Amino acid sequence: MLPVIGELRPWADPSVTALHRLPMRPPTTAFPDRAAARADVRTDSAFWRSLDGRWRFRLFDHPDRVPPAAIRLEGDSGKHWTTLAVPGNWTVQGVDDHPRYTNVQMPFDGPPPRLPDHNPTGVYRRSFTIPRGWSGRQIVLHLGGAESVHTVFVNGRFAGYGSDSRLASEYDITGHVARGRNELAVVVSRFSAHSYVEDQDQWWMAGLHREVFIEARAAVHVHTLRCDADLRVDDGAGLLDVTAVVGGTAPPAAGWKVRVFAETLGGKRLGKAQVVSVPHRFVDPYGFRGHGVTAHFEIADVSPWSAEHPNRYRVIAELVDPDGDVAEVHAQLVGFRHVEITDGDLLVNGKRVWIFGVNRHDHHPDRGKALTLDDMRADLYAMRGLNITAVRCSHYPNDPRLLDLCDEIGMYVIDEANIESHAYNSSLADDTRWRSTWLDRGARMVERDRNHPSVIMWSLGNESGYGRNHDALAGWIREADPSRPLHYEDAIRQCGWHDGGRHATDVVCPMYATIADIAAYEGDRPLILCEYSHAMGNSNGSLADYWDAITNSPHLQGGFIWEWKDHGIRTTLPNGRIGFAYGGQFGESPHDGNFVADGLMSSDLVPHPAAHEVAWVYRPVTVEAAGRAKLRVTNRRAFSDLDDLVARWELLVGGTVIESGALTLPPIPALSSAVIPLPCERPDDADAHLTVTFTQVADTQWAPAGHFVAWDQVELRRLRRRRIAGAASKGAAADVLTTPVELALFRAPIDNDGFKLMPELSRRIGVGGTAWVGWEDAGLHRLPAADFADHEHQIDVLEDGSELHHHRVVVPDTLTDLARVGVTFRLPAGFDSVRWYGRGPVENYPDRNRGSLLGVWEAPVDEPPYLVPQEFGLRTDCRWFEMVGDGVSVRVEAFDPGSLHCSATHFTQADLLAAAHETDLVPRDELVVHLDVAHRGVGTASCGPDILEQYRVSPGTYAFSYRIVVTAS
Ligand code: GAL
Ligand code: MG
Repeated sequence: MLPVIGELRPWADPSVTALHRLPMRPPTTAFPDRAAARADVRTDSAFWRSLDGRWRFRLFDHPDRVPPAAIRLEGDSGKHWTTLAVPGNWTVQGVDDHPRYTNVQMPFDGPPPRLPDHNPTGVYRRSFTIPRGWSGRQIVLHLGGAESVHTVFVNGRFAGYGSDSRLASEYDITGHVARGRNELAVVVSRFSAHSYVEDQDQWWMAGLHREVFIEARAAVHVHTLRCDADLRVDDGAGLLDVTAVVGGTAPPAAGWKVRVFAETLGGKRLGKAQVVSVPHRFVDPYGFRGHGVTAHFEIADVSPWSAEHPNRYRVIAELVDPDGDVAEVHAQLVGFRHVEITDGDLLVNGKRVWIFGVNRHDHHPDRGKALTLDDMRADLYAMRGLNITAVRCSHYPNDPRLLDLCDEIGMYVIDEANIESHAYNSSLADDTRWRSTWLDRGARMVERDRNHPSVIMWSLGNESGYGRNHDALAGWIREADPSRPLHYEDAIRQCGWHDGGRHATDVVCPMYATIADIAAYEGDRPLILCEYSHAMGNSNGSLADYWDAITNSPHLQGGFIWEWKDHGIRTTLPNGRIGFAYGGQFGESPHDGNFVADGLMSSDLVPHPAAHEVAWVYRPVTVEAAGRAKLRVTNRRAFSDLDDLVARWELLVGGTVIESGALTLPPIPALSSAVIPLPCERPDDADAHLTVTFTQVADTQWAPAGHFVAWDQVELRRLRRRRIAGAASKGAAADVLTTPVELALFRAPIDNDGFKLMPELSRRIGVGGTAWVGWEDAGLHRLPAADFADHEHQIDVLEDGSELHHHRVVVPDTLTDLARVGVTFRLPAGFDSVRWYGRGPVENYPDRNRGSLLGVWEAPVDEPPYLVPQEFGLRTDCRWFEMVGDGVSVRVEAFDPGSLHCSATHFTQADLLAAAHETDLVPRDELVVHLDVAHRGVGTASCGPDILEQYRVSPGTYAFSYRIVVTAS
């Protein structure tokens, strides 16, 4: 049993959030002078030491079973100890305790606060040195993040205990250390009573996943530096309140002062410094408000901060001792910006901004929750490259450096408290035992992050029902920081969008609402979807339809796609291969399978095809037809013109660019449109399109000059049923095709059709889409398609050897929701690339193709992009589609209708259906070709609405014709 704390068992008591933990503060480091403070390199400070690196580690199966020897000063060595990286999760570092994935359900049985008998508990140990120069100072240990709860022992003595896996804990260890070598032991338990409020949809990990350091703060020092920077929208003045709270080993004596000023990042002073005296005595205890001082500044004509122009300034705060000498200097970067809700709209700096957002977790496929600065930069750069300008920190305060980067790069952030009691959604929010944890988690988040201009809203957490604990937290935040609106989804879910939950949320922030519901919204608060367009597998259907509604309805301002990245973990899988694991692949139970892989990006940050559609839907400038001869160009930015973009146009007839040029635009100020004439004559030919593209003039942090920022295509002349032009064919298709052309009605279910790996979810619990259940019950996946629909097929061989195929398919009324109506055939080995005139370049589907330009494209045959194999690779609206082999090409020309949806992959639908993991797939040598006259949309039914009616493949008669031409290539 652990000394001191073993009998108390605070980890089992939800009302104990911490023991001996210091108050939260925004991260800050004291430096001896201004130059060092400006540079802000902590390792330059003589009073700061990282404790990151290899620590000794030993795992026990319960906190009660950690023997005192494991934390005693002299220690316990021997074969049970190993070494692990800190920061890091032990669950991904080869010890015998693995990640576990559950979504809503807890990984162990309740009721709260019951804990499992097996509660892995790791003891981390290392020594550290206290240099001579640190004596007389306050020695502080900083633990950046420990999952789930942690206890600190210094030289064998209890020093503190803390909860909340996603915020730092600091302890004053001055009384426990001596000069020279000291021993630190941190005991981390994987589960605690607080696990019930950390029931987010992610892996349960464990360990010290954020940085650890020690610091020697001066006997009198600035503990907290709070900078509230606001913008007075009327006249552009920056309003700055800087509060310095002085702390130390004892209350400060008389005569201490804080000198504060603001400057540009280049060091140019803005106005005069202010010197404020630190209240030093409890002369009047009744009126005494602590050792804090506040300086107020009004600075004319600042350059405001926004996600478009992330202008920052620096605040310098100098602590001056009674002799007038500078004792220490702190620097804090700030941005002047104003957030308000006025007339039902969310305004930043007085302007209505679009929330082009995505939800983001801290995740790395190898390191779990331990992220590097480069990992976070890579996430944010990739987001900006896709026109994503808002991030919801789902569902906890992320690594604090993420917010520094958001301030720097320009991102609007919803910062969310680490509170999710999803499995006990209806009780804990009113349970007094958890009241203190609610308040502590939310308040500490605000205290850590309030200096960040990027944070524009506070979120009370996620999926925790709605109760008094929320209202208590909301009340605290509203008082502590009136400058930011509150966000909490469950309040409106339970109390209604119109008037509901106003105590806890200032925005109506539903998740997975239908387009019809958001379009019908008539409330007086801004509506911002906290989650929508669930990116699990082949998904994100109707994203553009969502934005048609958002753009055209009052008070709708956007939303956050669920979610940024798959959470696969690179490991040796049950099939013996190395790949990204999803739930259950570590042998854990219960689990929620591949629901953890629902990102726009793969686990290692390769964009899934839907990311292309996201970039288009979130583009900052749009172009549409305005009558027959004009274009309307709309600037969706709130603060910038379009001068940083090069606009070009291309006229395509029949897929070929016949004319192109620079697009001349008048100045188009922020949030305005201009109507301009077409840059070319409207051609007489059918199937003519005008493409307009916008590329970056110069490099940005995230993309080089020339990066495509926006694109649009306007139809000038419709496609008509095409005539068959006799082309020289090299031979009959029948000689090349390795299978006959056969009817195809099935697709390997995408996650939105139903979860093939978790059939009980759709069948028993009714979660997710149900299309796959219907197909499976009917036998569409195993019986020939011809058993289900009447199919007439006629082939005319033309003189040149090409073949004309005519199909007539009658889908009976019983098949109300088919995957596709089309045909399939195969080509022999050697066909490894495709050319097509249709939508591209990446995979697209009928309800996810508005960002895919019509044109002539060429690409190698697609690799499967999804972790769990499923239908992939379609290109919609193909006028022709050509499979390129060794010296021979097989081209399909649609002529009635004038286009088909086509795919060519090295997998059959049966191959994709049978495989549970991408590493199970073995590509065939032959090419499997699909030509569809109708293909079901993808929708987002894995979590959210299924496809809209117009994307359904319904009963009826489908007639289509195409020609197959074999040519030399
Ligand atoms: C939401 C939840 C997210 C995630 C998502 C489904 O209900 O807030 O955390 O679980 O559904 O992937
Ligand atoms: Mg949840």
